[in-house]
Amino acid sequence: MKENYMVCNCMQVSYAKIADALDTHERFDNVISAFEEIQKQTHCSTGCGGCHQKVLDVISEIMMGK
Ligand code: FES
Repeated sequence: MKENYMVCNCMQVSYAKIADALDTHERFDNVISAFEEIQKQTHCSTGCGGCHQKVLDVISEIMMGK
């Protein structure tokens, strides 16, 4: 079961939304390029920016397959 909670409140981007967005791509080489792509797709972390680290953590967690 996927965890689902709000990662970016400004843009209403949930954990599941990030996971789904990652799913639509080939594996990324690194978290930063994944972040840039996910940001383009979901607009997460384009408001206050306070969730930046949280988004990075979620992406790396998903990429590590946890
Ligand atoms: S909480 Fe994500 S940009 Fe503000």
